[in-house]
Parts: sequence; structure tokens; C-alpha cells
Amino acid sequence: VEDSKQFEIRKQDHVRIALGSEVQTTHLSQLDRVQLIHEALPEINFEDVSLETTVFGLPVLSPFFVSSMTAGHPEAKNINLRLAKACEEKGWLMGVGSQRRELIDSEAAKEWSEIREQAPNALLFGNLGLSQLITTPLEAVQTLVDNLEAEGLFIHTNPLQECLQHEGTPQFRGGLEALKNLCAAMDIPVVLKEVGCGFSRLTLSKLDQVGLAAVDVSGLGGTHWGRVEALRNAKRTTEIRSGDQSLGEVFGDWGISTVQSLINIKELNPDYQVWASGGIRSGLDAAKLLALGAQMAGIAKPFLESALREIETGKSCLIPLMQKLEDELRISMFCTGCVNSEQLRSRGVWEWKL
Ligand SMILES: Cc1cc2nc3c(=O)[nH]c(=O)nc-3n(C[C@H](O)[C@H](O)[C@H](O)COP(=O)(O)O)c2cc1C
Repeated sequence: VEDSKQFEIRKQDHVRIALGSEVQTTHLSQLDRVQLIHEALPEINFEDVSLETTVFGLPVLSPFFVSSMTAGHPEAKNINLRLAKACEEKGWLMGVGSQRRELIDSEAAKEWSEIREQAPNALLFGNLGLSQLITTPLEAVQTLVDNLEAEGLFIHTNPLQECLQHEGTPQFRGGLEALKNLCAAMDIPVVLKEVGCGFSRLTLSKLDQVGLAAVDVSGLGGTHWGRVEALRNAKRTTEIRSGDQSLGEVFGDWGISTVQSLINIKELNPDYQVWASGGIRSGLDAAKLLALGAQMAGIAKPFLESALREIETGKSCLIPLMQKLEDELRISMFCTGCVNSEQLRSRGVWEWKL
């Protein structure tokens, strides 16, 4: 069993390494293959464009969300506090980082009670890994949700990362069953997400009837967790599970792109909502994914960077980033003649770039 010091070092490594350009695969998202169709006569006014939407009946001011990142180490509280306050102010949904530590250390839940005091109205979704879910009693999962006062729960599935991580838990047998039981027991929406390797048609086809509220594709094209873990391994002196840092070179482009993952889902016409993340770096990227059918668009790494800059400089960085993303999305909507994201999703306002 991993001790808490080891856990903290791993989480801090993740934050530091995730910021480096060598773990980004933005060129592989395939977003550059998608073009929104410009309308020279949009017949709407810019101020008609509204980003407001609802998530499982809850109103949000935009279809963006801050995708699950860190938790459970000393730096995390400050990062999450800033993210939660910014999301509360802008009316964005926020996914918190993995709450795994709370399963073994009840003190860890204090991170959230303080954040909740300062951001009581933030719309927060909890987070736990599928390989943890498999071995965790449902009452313990309910406690994670209660600790956070969560409105929903992300379960992340990350087979590549768990393989390449020295301390990883690549045990996924029974995952579908665990998901079904969870969805049946929870009275809040459950969203299954990857962490940057996307979803195949075969995997997606197994998810019908599971009871999921949504799948967030989190495809290849942004932060790559194979690369992150390989870089951590490179710094180790002890032997690792199954190789060395060269695994990062072999598996550094592994995954199904964010765009391909979305196309895979839409072809299936699923009984769950489709969300998108993995390499979204502008409001135009988000607009393309909404046009391809996503209800929500999640962003991780740029928000980590921005939160850390805010902590370091004391200057406001998160709200300006959110504003910029929203402006870019609004412009994309206006120039395709769409006044809301429902129109953007349903009007076929995109084409493949030749
Ligand atoms: C520092 C960091 C920590 C992360 N930790 C988690 C996590 O605990 N749980 C999870 O579901 N995803 C986690 N992710 C993955 C993101 O939610 C997201 O799926 C992935 O980074 C792709 O988005 P991006 O390209 O915008 O970074 C983490 C991402 C970053 C950058």
C-alpha cells in the first residue's frame, strides 16, 4: 500500500510534468481537420449569442468546464480553491481531481470543506478512477460525493496511464459491472471520462444501458498521460514495472483523437450525453467539438498553468482566460449564424477541411 508521502510526491510530479510542452500532443487532436462554415449573412446580432445552457437540468452560464485535475496534496488546495472560485464567478462547471486519497485518509476531505466555505455555489463534480471504483464499496464512493457536495461524479478510465505508472493499478476487470452498479446506486449523474486517450467504437458500444449520464471522450490531442508517466520514470533510479522511459517514446502518441472519439460516439446514437475534452486550447476548438455534437467542452492543462501563475504573481489570470475562451466561442457561434449551443450542435455547421 502506497504511503501518503509517496502519494503526495506523485501528485506533485504530475502537476510539474503536465506543464511541459513535451507531454502535449495538440497536433494530434485532429481539430485542424474540422472547419466551421462561415456565414456571410448570419442574420443575427452579436449580442443575441448566448452561451447559457443546462447540465442535467442545472443551469450553467457556458458549455465549458474545467476538467478534473489535482487533489490530495498541499499545493492542490490552493489550486482548487482558485479554480472553484473562478468557476463559481463565471458559472462554469468544475471537475475536481481524483478523490482517491480520501478513501484512505479521512483528513484529505478537509480540502473540500474549506473550498466549499469560500465557493458555496460552485458546481462541482467529484472524481474517482475506474480501477479504484472496482475495489471500493459504494458507500465509500457516496462519502466522496457528500464530502464535496458534488452535483455529479466523473469516473476516469486510464489503462495506458496505469500501465506506465510505477505505482499504477492496471486492474480493470469488472469495470463495466462496477459502473452499472454505481449508476444504479447514485442519485447524481455519473460521467465516464478518459484522461487523454479517447474512446473506440467497441468500448462505446458497451456503454449503452450502463446508466451513464454522459461520456467525456477526453481524447488524444492534449496532455498525454503516457508521456507524463514515462518522464516520471526517467527520473527514477529504481527498476520500474515493465521497462523504462523509452516506453514514453513507444506509446507517446497512443490513443484515439478527440475528434475521432466524438465521431465514434455520434455514429452510435447513444443513450448518454456526449462531452468533449483533450487538447481544447481555444474557444474555436470548443466550438468545433460542439458543432460535432458535444454538449460540454472541458479544458485541463491551460487552467492548471493559469491557476499556478495566479498563485505566483497574485494577479488575476483565470477569469481573463475564461473570458477569452468565451469570446472566441461567441465569435465562432456568431459567424456560423448560431445564437446558442443547441443550434451549433444541430445545424451541421462544419465540414472536413480538404
Ligand atoms: C495535472 C493534471 C492532473 C490530472 N488529474 C486527473 C484526475 O485526477 N482525474 C481525471 O479524471 N483526470 C485528470 N487529468 C486529466 C484531465 O482531466 C484531462 O482529461 C486531460 O488532461 C486532457 O485535457 P487537456 O488536454 O485539456 O489537458 C489531469 C490532468 C492534468 C493536467
